[in-house]
Amino acid sequence: MTDTAADLLRIEDLHARPTPEEGADPGADILKGLDLVVRRGEVHAIMGPNGSGKSTLANTLLGNPAYEVTSGRILYDGDDVTEWPTDVRAKSGMFLAFQYPQEIQGVSVIQFLRQALSARKGIDLSVLELRLATMDWMKRLGMDSSFVDRYLNEGFSGGEKKRNEIMQMAILEPELAILDETDSGLDIDALRVVATGIREIRKDRSQLGILLITHYQRLLDELQPDFVHIMVAGRIVASGGMELAERLERDGYEAFRGAD
Ligand SMILES: Nc1ncnc2c1ncn2[C@@H]1O[C@H](COP(=O)(O)OP(=O)(O)OP(=O)(O)O)[C@@H](O)[C@H]1O
Ligand SMILES: [Mg+2]
Repeated sequence: MTDTAADLLRIEDLHARPTPEEGADPGADILKGLDLVVRRGEVHAIMGPNGSGKSTLANTLLGNPAYEVTSGRILYDGDDVTEWPTDVRAKSGMFLAFQYPQEIQGVSVIQFLRQALSARKGIDLSVLELRLATMDWMKRLGMDSSFVDRYLNEGFSGGEKKRNEIMQMAILEPELAILDETDSGLDIDALRVVATGIREIRKDRSQLGILLITHYQRLLDELQPDFVHIMVAGRIVASGGMELAERLERDGYEAFRGAD
């Protein structure tokens, strides 16, 4: 018998597709039988060619209504969360960095953090208290203290967007973080922010589980994930350690395409 109690995230035979428009024919599944287990404290990386379904997976885990599960299930901390709305998932400790990628007019970073913290933990800190709480993290993440007074994502560089996400992750203290690094425009600085940010957070919170979707070998080199998975055509076709990422670097995805 396997001990599933320690599993933080358990994805079983997941099939999902974009939610069809009212009256329209549903399209084919994009996720086609995906299995994955993330235990506490583990860092998992998912790599895969464009269009293999990585962002669909992230969206489905988030509970984005634009996607629907057609079969299979998602267990989080022992609960079947397959049908849970996004806010309930967030409250229970699932964190999705791309949840709020857009500019929200007139809302500063600190106001946003305050609202998110209240939703996640039911803690209502004053702006001043939150400012104190973020100070240490701003230092650790190499951020200027004026950063929190800027408006959310307004004119943010790639690196600043990443700092903002990492800051959210630090303050909201999730149990499971899902990071979809799809942005092909990430420069070295932004990649380093993600890598050092995750490392700093893990120092304090060794039980944090991380699912990192990325195309960047360099990010994996810096993070040294415990597991690397290759996703092709809506399924995980290979799982292993860093040697898998090295094989991918050498042979490309071709070597994995026949594997499913
Ligand atoms: N809302 C949607 N409506 C229609 N098709 C969709 C939708 N979302 C995703 N798809 C299709 O599903 C497939 C997988 O897309 P997805 O964005 O999950 O890939 P990805 O692995 O994240 O790719 P990338 O590496 O480019 O980020 C693609 O063919 C895409 O066109
Ligand atoms: Mg994507």
